[in-house]
Amino acid sequence: MRLKVTRILLLFWTIFIGVGAYIGGICMLIKPDGSLLQMQAMLPYFQVLPFSDILFQDYIFSGIMLIIVNGISNTIATYFLFRNKKIGYILGTIFGFTLILWIIIQLVIFPPNLLDTLYFIFGILQFITGYIALVSFNQEYFIFNKEDYCNIKALSDTLVVYFSRKKYTKKIAYQKANELESEILEITTNERTKGDLGFWWCGRFGMHNWEMDINEKNINLDKYKNIIIVTPIWVFKMASPIRGFVDFYKEKLSTKNITVIFNHFNPWLPKGAIKEIKNYIPVNNIESKTTMLGHIFK
Ligand SMILES: Cc1cc2nc3c(=O)[nH]c(=O)nc-3n(C[C@H](O)[C@H](O)[C@H](O)COP(=O)(O)O)c2cc1C
Repeated sequence: MRLKVTRILLLFWTIFIGVGAYIGGICMLIKPDGSLLQMQAMLPYFQVLPFSDILFQDYIFSGIMLIIVNGISNTIATYFLFRNKKIGYILGTIFGFTLILWIIIQLVIFPPNLLDTLYFIFGILQFITGYIALVSFNQEYFIFNKEDYCNIKALSDTLVVYFSRKKYTKKIAYQKANELESEILEITTNERTKGDLGFWWCGRFGMHNWEMDINEKNINLDKYKNIIIVTPIWVFKMASPIRGFVDFYKEKLSTKNITVIFNHFNPWLPKGAIKEIKNYIPVNNIESKTTMLGHIFK
């Protein structure tokens, strides 16, 4: 749903900004003195720019640049967005940013005016819409195939434990279990964690550093030497079901070789999360992954 809405909005911006740039650019080329757009009086303001004696004696160069930088560019983004290609979302976002830069130059050299202010806001809106659409696109097409992880074993001295609302942490956990040829276990809870409402419910637990009661209370941890805990970050700390897990099993876990893998959206791992989990159990290794834009980075 979020992808659908933001894609339509981004298409609106790329078409609107693109068509506007063609109209403006063509008017400048038809009447290089700017008279079609009633911009004759603005020409002297361009004279502060480099090479103005060659480029800005009329509106020909500005018109061509407007058509290329804001017209053709946004048409290319529109084309790929219609085809629902990732590059369309990337370009749509970048061209929001280039519009902001373009207008910043105008805001610096022209006296304050409504049109520039409006287009500056349009640029920001296109950039934000593009970014949200791009994130939504990556999340929508994030692929998890259980069949890819055929090394996962039923008998091993290593256990990967994870909680995942969506598929991101799950994928990291499966990759790790596959690499180590270990066992894997998903932690579940009866609290509401799915969907948009689930997001806010989880946020509430996260904000208060509350545990979520877990369903897996009969795990025999005795046979494992190594435990790898894979948790999403919720409000700068481990996710509440994992908090429930480490609290419930803290005595058993204290005798194991523990690795914690934090999975977060932001590029950085909040240090408070490391501190908190170490208050529950001794941790030998910490790893951190970011799923920003739907990718997993080391
Ligand atoms: C309630 C909630 C709070 C979150 N807080 C943070 C945060 O503080 N920092 C961060 O980088 N990511 C945060 N995230 C994003 C998740 O860590 C990230 O999207 C992760 O990939 C989710 O994994 P999953 O889809 O496997 O559950 C939060 C997610 C939720 C649901």
